[in-house]
Amino acid sequence: MSTVNDMAEMPVQLPRNPANAAEARSRYFNSGNAFNIKLPPVPGRIFTDEPTSAFALEKTGFINCDLSAEMQCPFPATTPLMLARYAVIKSGEGLDTTLTNTASIWYAIKGKATLVVGDENAVLGKADVFLLPGGVPSAITASEDSIFWLVGNDPQLMFDASAPIIGDNAAVSFVHYPAGEISHQLDVVYGTNANASTSGHALIFSAEKTQASRNIATTMTLSLNTLKPRSFQPPHKHNSAAITLVVNGDPAYSMVADAKCAWSPWATLVTPPAAKHSHHNDGDTRAEFLIVQDGGFHYHARTMGFEFY
Ligand SMILES: [Fe+2]
Repeated sequence: MSTVNDMAEMPVQLPRNPANAAEARSRYFNSGNAFNIKLPPVPGRIFTDEPTSAFALEKTGFINCDLSAEMQCPFPATTPLMLARYAVIKSGEGLDTTLTNTASIWYAIKGKATLVVGDENAVLGKADVFLLPGGVPSAITASEDSIFWLVGNDPQLMFDASAPIIGDNAAVSFVHYPAGEISHQLDVVYGTNANASTSGHALIFSAEKTQASRNIATTMTLSLNTLKPRSFQPPHKHNSAAITLVVNGDPAYSMVADAKCAWSPWATLVTPPAAKHSHHNDGDTRAEFLIVQDGGFHYHARTMGFEFY
């Protein structure tokens, strides 16, 4: 018999006389001790050292924006379900971009390169966006020193010890959004009036396979948000975590849970789930920022919880 009176203080309960290995693997908790593990919160953070390292162009490889230690997460992660990275590829060199995720969303910060994905290929230039399916052999070869920013749902698959499905039943296909086309499509959006219920002029990226959900990937969303000179996006919150790449803002900043995060070129900003936040353009030019969220996950789970303050 246990000598502990408070059920919340009880240790794990083991089976008494397991008849076999499967029974021996069983464990029991109770309504007092099962739910009192407190995970550390997702930190609000702006990563500025990582883009500086990327621009040093020292060696070809990935530079993670890693908050796994702060989140007590056993694998690299920027938010619980997403990992943001910079990819550096020196001129004449190649990088294997075959990743264990459902999808990764890429933005070309600088350079020129060729991409091979399965039996398809593309020429990549500055400000291109592309979507890579996880698990499909892919590689980038740079013809100029190149830097990319990417966000994948690698931590989601690590958490669930799962692997991407490839082939006809894959969640996403390779999709290329060339810079010139993105610029044109954004102009089309700018030709309309911003709706009072939206948060400014933004271009939302989607794809043939995910068009019904209006997302780019199953669990992730991608938006190119803009702020006109001397304007701001009003404070709001959502249960999706957001990872933002500063594309242009001179000067601009974000407020995240009442902390001011000054933007710097190509910085990565983390907005924790449910944190109050707003984005502010104090400059005379249009501010642009790319936002990846695990919004597809929350939309599907009916847990988005979007609210303006
Ligand atoms: Fe937001």
